[in-house]
Amino acid sequence: MAIIGIDLGTSTCEIAYFKDGKPQIILNDKGERITPSYVGIDTNGDIVVGQDAKDQFIGRRQFTTMEYKRLMGTNEKIRLGDKLYFPEEISAIMLKYLKECAEKYLKEEVTEAVITVPANFNNNQREATLNAAKLAGLKVERLINEPTAAALAFGLKNIDKNLKVLVFDFGGGTLDVTVLEIFDGVIDVMSSYGDPFLGGKDFDERLCEFIIQEMKRRINFHVAQDDFLTMSKIKAAAEEAKKNLSFDKEALIVIENVYSNGNIIDFKIKISREEFEEMVFDLVERAGYIIDKALEDKDLSYDDIDLVLMVGGTTRIPLVRKYVKEKLNKDIKTEINPDEAVALGAAIQAAIMSGKMDEEKGLMITDICPYNLGVASVAEINGQLFADVFSKIIERNTTIPTSKSKEFYTLYDNQTEVEIKAYQTLDNDCLFVDDATFIGSFHLSGIPENKAGKEAILVEFSYDLNGNIKITATIKSNGISKDLEIKNQSSLSLDQVIEKMDAIDDSWKKSRLASKYKITIETAEKKIKQMDDIKLKNELFDLVVKLKEYIKNEDEENADLIDGRILDFILDI
Ligand SMILES: Nc1ncnc2c1ncn2[C@@H]1O[C@H](COP(=O)(O)OP(=O)(O)OP(=O)(O)O)[C@@H](O)[C@H]1O
Ligand SMILES: [Mg+2]
Repeated sequence: MAIIGIDLGTSTCEIAYFKDGKPQIILNDKGERITPSYVGIDTNGDIVVGQDAKDQFIGRRQFTTMEYKRLMGTNEKIRLGDKLYFPEEISAIMLKYLKECAEKYLKEEVTEAVITVPANFNNNQREATLNAAKLAGLKVERLINEPTAAALAFGLKNIDKNLKVLVFDFGGGTLDVTVLEIFDGVIDVMSSYGDPFLGGKDFDERLCEFIIQEMKRRINFHVAQDDFLTMSKIKAAAEEAKKNLSFDKEALIVIENVYSNGNIIDFKIKISREEFEEMVFDLVERAGYIIDKALEDKDLSYDDIDLVLMVGGTTRIPLVRKYVKEKLNKDIKTEINPDEAVALGAAIQAAIMSGKMDEEKGLMITDICPYNLGVASVAEINGQLFADVFSKIIERNTTIPTSKSKEFYTLYDNQTEVEIKAYQTLDNDCLFVDDATFIGSFHLSGIPENKAGKEAILVEFSYDLNGNIKITATIKSNGISKDLEIKNQSSLSLDQVIEKMDAIDDSWKKSRLASKYKITIETAEKKIKQMDDIKLKNELFDLVVKLKEYIKNEDEENADLIDGRILDFILDI
């Protein structure tokens, strides 16, 4: 069974797999290499995904969504018609579609994937991505960072070289800059910095503003914010013009059928590449600042970089290329298709994990924790005591997996408990937790009564290869300890995932085997909701997903096997 690689992008998605010693793109059911990240509901009330959803965007703006990746890990809901969805539900619909495309193309069942996320995705966003995969019935072998994946795709072709590479991944919604070293077949990620809110979308918005201004100025047409039809036309035209300006010196923007002084007209306006470049120059400069931040951390200079790898659709903009090239005074590599590099890299990672990649050819990768992680503490700054000081435990750009710990002491006499509050931040100089992102907290009690400062609590942070954070606090004098896996910050809990799952894919219910295993599934799902242990909860959940998959494929033999395992599991707990 193939493990596929998925680039779940803000504006486009790509899927790939590893075959004949190299990663290859999987075509979607339209025969395309690229799938637009759109999801919608059509006039029949059916869900449409990809190009079909993009095609209805202008006419059915309120029934179509895009750029939901930017909402992953938040509690914001997405409205499609009269229904509200969690961002991970929409992502799940997309992932399920990609899974089905892969199954059609490979003519085999696909249940496992490596999915890529922006390097600067925080824990909540990663967790939301994992939940989306769960909803789509995909077991995620590994989440890998997008620039790291791109580097893998490049590294495979340059395995015999020793190079320091700067990966500049400028996509639809995010910018990630990662510096890595390829050395003896090992790709060692050294540092990474990003802006989760800077991407091609922002370039589109500049053009939208321009079009809206010009419509007002030239034909006295005021676009209302809730005029969805016109807004979607403008948005589509803006993106098209932006893309054309990457190839041509001038683009013609046409907004069809707008009312002007009682007439319906087509609004037309030309824009030159120079005008466009002026409009977006500050965005490009912001991208330059991110490069400096990525280098700064490891005291690297422009001279240390051997080459720059351009990834992501926004790097097609000539100004972006020119700016980066001139800033670093380096060769720019565009030999790997910027839209596909990330998915190809994910497929390589999948191959490494499933042992499909030739051992001798070797290719190892080490990644880093993109954040400073720490806790709130009371500490002295310039001779004065402050509460809520950010006390760093894992430093940004530490190679993962990693575990680091720090000791803290009781603050007052007879203190018997303590609250551990964990935070993350990109900022190396962050002083107070107010400027960091809260990621979770827990109480530890059982501290023996003692004088202030006499009892020590050891706080350990671990960061694993998937970006999961585990925090353990231990009272040193008596060994009492408690831990917290930072996994519950996502907008959807595992219980909610179970509830939503059948709404997204209830095809198992249509199988002739459904009735045979229905009770097992219902019992297991009820059990999962009652369980406290996250690890066991997830294990049981994975078994249920597997069972549904076998039911769907009418594979009774394997379904029986899993059915038995689920029953044993339930009896054991
Ligand atoms: N020829 C082009 N010129 C300029 N921009 C382009 C061109 N082709 C694509 N783009 C832009 O590239 C962006 C999409 O790039 P890509 O597919 O790499 O992003 P993504 O992977 O979906 O996003 P992210 O990585 O941020 O999640 C869109 O904003 C799109 O408009
Ligand atoms: Mg991308």
